[in-house]
Amino acid sequence: MTVHFVGAGPGAPDLLTLRGRDIIAASPVCLYAGSLVPEAILSHCPAGARIVNTAPLSLDQIMDEISAAHAEGLDVVRLHSGDLSVWSAMGEQLRRLKALGIPFTVTPGVPSFAAAAAALGTELTLPGIAQSLVLTRTPGRASAMPEGETLTNFAATGATLAIHLSIHNLAQTVADLTPGYGADCPVAVVWRASWPEQRILRGTLETIEALVAGSMERTALILVGPALAGEGFAESSLYASEYDRRFRPQSADSVYADSKE
Ligand SMILES: C[S@@+](CC[C@H](N)C(=O)[O-])C[C@H]1O[C@@H](n2cnc3c(N)ncnc32)[C@H](O)[C@@H]1O
Repeated sequence: MTVHFVGAGPGAPDLLTLRGRDIIAASPVCLYAGSLVPEAILSHCPAGARIVNTAPLSLDQIMDEISAAHAEGLDVVRLHSGDLSVWSAMGEQLRRLKALGIPFTVTPGVPSFAAAAAALGTELTLPGIAQSLVLTRTPGRASAMPEGETLTNFAATGATLAIHLSIHNLAQTVADLTPGYGADCPVAVVWRASWPEQRILRGTLETIEALVAGSMERTALILVGPALAGEGFAESSLYASEYDRRFRPQSADSVYADSKE
């Protein structure tokens, strides 16, 4: 018996990996985080599967479900939204599984920042503008931020920020970021990326609050940084016609001329 953690993607049911789909189809027990995992994904569950929405359950109750399946030798698929590597609460479940000696696998999913960037048609790292992406959030009722991980500190880097779980904190977010990025820094807010009702608002740190005007809650991502403008950047050297590289040696003298790989 194995617990298979599967990233269920950002919302569109077809943004699920083939591996994830096959694991769901082969698992007689499915535990899904109902607040964000699209119900349509559950249609891949086999007939007669035990399907449990874990949104109202505590960690202890979730572990009880897993232990019951373990006692019966039934594989469990555990679905969380987006990818599992960020804000999935997978870590605490893995710690319990390890203590109990229950095997597990992890299958990645499409994270919401990638779905939001796709919706915007934007590359978040652009040559000479931003070469780093910070996935972060602001403090919540149940989650303080570790010292040092402040928006003010991240703003000092000039990197692109993908700010999760924070649309309700937009005013403070803007206040913290404006001194570092400047009031004219581009901002995009993507609400329910990849869902049929997806909405996109583009503005600057100066204008974004008025544009959102309280019209979005919960499932929104705030993207901030000069890369959002999508202009004023150089082309990458990698594809420059004169750039000597392993896959495109520029002369017989190139160090890559005899390279077979
Ligand atoms: C608990 S976190 C889950 C993150 C998820 N594990 C991921 O890989 O994106 C929930 C937050 O992710 C963001 N989020 C998740 N799905 C989203 C979507 N479809 N569109 C925009 N933001 C989304 C929102 O900021 C939301 O508050």
